[in-house]
Amino acid sequence: MSWFYRKLVRPALFSLDSEEIHNRTLDVLGWLGRQGVLCEALASFYGAPELPVELFGLTFPNPVGLAAGMDKQAAAVPAWEALGFGFIELGGVTWQPQSGNPAPRMFRAAADEALINRMGFNNPGAEGLAATLAAWRATSRWPRHPVGLNLGKSKDAPLEAAAEDYARSFRVLWPHADFFVVNVSSPNTPNLRQLQDRVALDEILAALQEVNRHLSVVNREGSGVPAIPRSALRAPHSAKPILVKVAPDLSFEALDEILELAGPRQLAGMVATNTTITRPETNDPDLKRVYSEAGGLSGRPLRARSTEVVRHLYRQTKGALPIIGVGGIFGAEDAWEKITAGASLVQLYTGLVYRGPGAVKETVKGLQRRLEESSLGSLSEAVGTDAM
Ligand SMILES: Cc1cc2nc3c(=O)[nH]c(=O)nc-3n(C[C@H](O)[C@H](O)[C@H](O)COP(=O)(O)O)c2cc1C
Repeated sequence: MSWFYRKLVRPALFSLDSEEIHNRTLDVLGWLGRQGVLCEALASFYGAPELPVELFGLTFPNPVGLAAGMDKQAAAVPAWEALGFGFIELGGVTWQPQSGNPAPRMFRAAADEALINRMGFNNPGAEGLAATLAAWRATSRWPRHPVGLNLGKSKDAPLEAAAEDYARSFRVLWPHADFFVVNVSSPNTPNLRQLQDRVALDEILAALQEVNRHLSVVNREGSGVPAIPRSALRAPHSAKPILVKVAPDLSFEALDEILELAGPRQLAGMVATNTTITRPETNDPDLKRVYSEAGGLSGRPLRARSTEVVRHLYRQTKGALPIIGVGGIFGAEDAWEKITAGASLVQLYTGLVYRGPGAVKETVKGLQRRLEESSLGSLSEAVGTDAM
């Protein structure tokens, strides 16, 4: 982490309310993303070296991605590439536009390098997001890296109607992203995590794959026009990869039940993990106060458990199902831990808040170094080497 960020920028940012500073940062990044020269300048400072990964039929320039929740409105699409990310997961987005839970709803546990949030899927809704993505696509600034979308359930949709709610978002957003993540693991929408139950999740995945099949055929046959030019679609004729994002609080048995759906529902992979509802032990009164807030915990204290989940998923599938590892990654060492536990790609959110804009470049460079020091020829050879 640069001295400049640690000593000057972060203390100034951390003196403000965390959601306020989040929104202001996104405004700045959104603006920068529209200024070609400034965006290039940003990329010349923070752009990461190439460390390509091929997965889901897509090419990722490097394995470090932006985790869901950071850019729920697709406010800063081109800026993430300039900050070095090898892919991004935008959203979570729900069918209905939502304002989310009342503020304050994002809290820093700075001594533990953690965050607690109970945002509650504040987002512009699937149609609003689709319009924003189409507008970015119409500029020349659409990133070269893969773009994923994180789908959540509208708060007002009852659990019995969840499959249709997810499917509506998926239908509208299908042409706009390279892969999709079904989020049934956020702790901040009442009862959402019950959708990790095998039967409920099966119904959602069945509905999504039905839409997926239909839209890929429509595209192939040229009837029914997607909202963006055919030439802009990376793989216009194929179904989109669908992944499931799981909570770190699930038992291994519950994870295994989800894995049973992978084959029948053609899952492309898993994202492990979302935030946790557990809290670390502490005697620090400031941390105790923050940890008494309701919501999901991310950052340092989540690292070990999310790695355990990655390792379990890798072992159970013998590496056959790709995993995106996320939770407490702050640099190359953490990213390497996730990769050797079984992750093919990694993501970060809280690490970016604490380490600043240089975090991605530092992580990718560190991974390159690790690879050079090992006898491995490519990053994919490192995946799962510490899992069995
Ligand atoms: C403020 C905030 C909002 C989030 N929103 C979402 C979301 O909408 N969908 C989702 O799947 N995960 C969401 N997450 C979880 C992150 O994507 C990630 O899984 C989690 O924070 C662990 O990674 P980290 O330790 O690098 O932050 C959110 C996290 C934070 C801190």
